[in-house]
Amino acid sequence: MGLRGHLLHFLSDPSLTGSEALQSFSDGVLLISKGLISAVGPYAELSEAFHACDSQYQYPGRFILPGFIDTHTHFAQTDIVASPSPSLLHWLEHYTFPEESEFARTDHCHEVAHFFISELLRQGTTTASIFGTVHAHSCDALFQAAHHHDMRVIAGKVLMDQNCPKPLRDSARGGIDESQALIKKWHGQARLRYSVTPRFIPTSSAEQLRLAANLYHDYPDLHLQSHVAENADEVAWVKRLYPSARSYLEVYRDFGLLGARAIYAHCIWFDDDDRTLMANTRTAAAFCPTSNLFLGSGLFDYRAARAAHMIVGLATDIGGGTSFSVLRTMHEAYKVAQLTGLTLTPEDCFYLATLGGARALGLDQFVGNFQVGKEADCVVLNPESTALTTRRFQKTRNLSEQLFVMMMLGDDRMIEQTHIQGIPKLDQD
Ligand code: GUN
Ligand code: ZN
Repeated sequence: MGLRGHLLHFLSDPSLTGSEALQSFSDGVLLISKGLISAVGPYAELSEAFHACDSQYQYPGRFILPGFIDTHTHFAQTDIVASPSPSLLHWLEHYTFPEESEFARTDHCHEVAHFFISELLRQGTTTASIFGTVHAHSCDALFQAAHHHDMRVIAGKVLMDQNCPKPLRDSARGGIDESQALIKKWHGQARLRYSVTPRFIPTSSAEQLRLAANLYHDYPDLHLQSHVAENADEVAWVKRLYPSARSYLEVYRDFGLLGARAIYAHCIWFDDDDRTLMANTRTAAAFCPTSNLFLGSGLFDYRAARAAHMIVGLATDIGGGTSFSVLRTMHEAYKVAQLTGLTLTPEDCFYLATLGGARALGLDQFVGNFQVGKEADCVVLNPESTALTTRRFQKTRNLSEQLFVMMMLGDDRMIEQTHIQGIPKLDQD
């Protein structure tokens, strides 16, 4: 199988290595064998092999990038996206918890999981780290839907045994036993992985947090996902629960919940000691700009995160976030960074959405760029998807400007095709 178009991908972080980070072939070829990349390079060098392929996909005037990576989202919040609320805790109580209660019904889980996975593909997202609900069968439905498309998905059943409506509570031990059963069933199957998923500090008892940490450390390659320091009232609540802790993040540390393959959404109300702790423990942050703006949570300080060498990925955080589109999320990340005194380059943003996200999830040995041997997930972008983008694109003078226009003006209309392990997933009209 072969793809031809304007190929571009990152070999490293452009904020560290500059222009060397980006590899671009304006007429390039990607060769794929058994779902893995077997060669990448200019058409002039690979034309013979390309034409010998049994299936050839030609994308003249289109950009072919590694599939987008969404490092934090909630499939069960699909139907409450855009629910107006003054702030996080009100939103959780009035929309999120009632909606997640609907997932007691297995048929509902399957219907929403199917829609959610289709929507990720329609937006060019090929890898995601996803929260289920407290119901174990919500994860079965999600993993089944992802497996159907052979997507690379990390997911977990939410652990919460306190401070939430009774029908949404598990028990400290029961939640862990259910997680363990899901790990046995799904972790490492095809392209699926399990993530231990305590919702956040207020909704888990100390016993549940201790057991969650044990589970995370019991397996060498398990993931962990949670939320931290998103909203001022949430931070104050954690302070009341753990008055002697120096910071919210240090509560997680004290339970043993930081480390490699762990990712925490938001990380807004951090100080430099928290940022250093994240970096030293190799714990990643999910930057969720549309969610943070929508819920009025605050501005993620990417400049400070960078200075502390934190690992950062980009995330939609549906349904606190307002768009499934990683292009739209890059756009909002750019604006948030502007407000914190950092002007991101388009290369920074596309790196965050691809290789940066893969690194944040600990999946960069599998996905994130077009290195030979990696899984051939890619997104095909049409820069001329609307009358406006067509006009604006004609005025661009170089690749960097082209990337900037795509991330500032692009949305789902710009996604022409999404390939999973080489296979095209979107119906063409
Ligand atoms: N904190 C705890 N749960 C949630 C959630 O579902 N969404 C967001 N944005 N923050 C949370
Ligand atoms: Zn979230």
